Amino acid sequence: MTRKGIVLAGGSGSRLHPLTLSVSKQLMPVYDKPLIYYPLCTLLEAGIRDLLVITTPHDRAAFERLLGDGRQWGVSIAYAEQPRPEGIAQALLIGADFIAGEPVALVLGDNIFHGHGLAGLLRSAAARHSGATIFAYNVSDPGRYGVVSFDASGRAIELEEKPAQPRSSHAVTGLYFYDADAVALARTLRPSARGELEITDLNRAYLARGDLRVERLGPGFAWLDTGTHESLLDAANFINVMQARQGLQIACPEEIALAQGWIGAAEVEAMARRCQSSSYGRYLQALLARGGAA
Ligand code: DAU
Repeated sequence: MTRKGIVLAGGSGSRLHPLTLSVSKQLMPVYDKPLIYYPLCTLLEAGIRDLLVITTPHDRAAFERLLGDGRQWGVSIAYAEQPRPEGIAQALLIGADFIAGEPVALVLGDNIFHGHGLAGLLRSAAARHSGATIFAYNVSDPGRYGVVSFDASGRAIELEEKPAQPRSSHAVTGLYFYDADAVALARTLRPSARGELEITDLNRAYLARGDLRVERLGPGFAWLDTGTHESLLDAANFINVMQARQGLQIACPEEIALAQGWIGAAEVEAMARRCQSSSYGRYLQALLARGGAA
């Protein structure tokens, strides 16, 4: 079985207007890289090489210019369109042919994950071929998200989408690993009161059949939201501070692909040349000089 990966990068980005009137939200800069690099790298870190990017019809060409067919990273990137934002779970219906009966990971194109040990968690989730795995993160404002609550033994018992009175402070992040049943289950969903096929309803279906695993991302991890101007700026500052302090890039697809053995020095060199006037290009040069090791 090959696990497929979908990055959902549609939506109107209305909370970031006028920034997103002409440019897709997932192409906005987060310090030195376009936003979509971060969730894309989350899937690459999980070892996923067969990818689908879902965009609005209007923005598709810009994503294709940025990411191409994935060959530069030794992966395959296909594209599909979501004409209107009719719900996150719709990604599984749009991607049904691409998924082709395999397990799939879905990540929202505006979610940023970072932390030591994350790659291990991702790989374990990707290796599980039965049931679903989602990730919970403690936040100060759970009512803005999907919320998962647990019983006394730590077992997930309830999922709610943007509850007025959250029963826990654990938000459900925008990263979902599903087994081969996801498309069939998504086909049974009906639009919610806000007219969307809710990903929370799909996760509820897995919870109801006792097949939902909830991994808690502890305080050592960062899960960043980029939904508002403030959170986009906070994310950029976070990336800048971490990268400057450690001298390591966060979400560098060339570095991940090189470490996985999907590409060699020639591909890294090619991107280093394209970016030779930027700090990103210089980082790639330095990466090559030290033989690819972090
Ligand atoms: O970020 C995690 C949260 O994402 C989860 O906790 C919630 O359960 C989930 O519903 C979702 O909540 P949001 O209110 O943040 O979703 P939003 O509508 O902002 O969409 C998230 C991203 O997905 C955004 O970048 C646009 C994209 N999107 C969304 C929808 C509904 C699409 O591309 N197509 C869509 O139809």
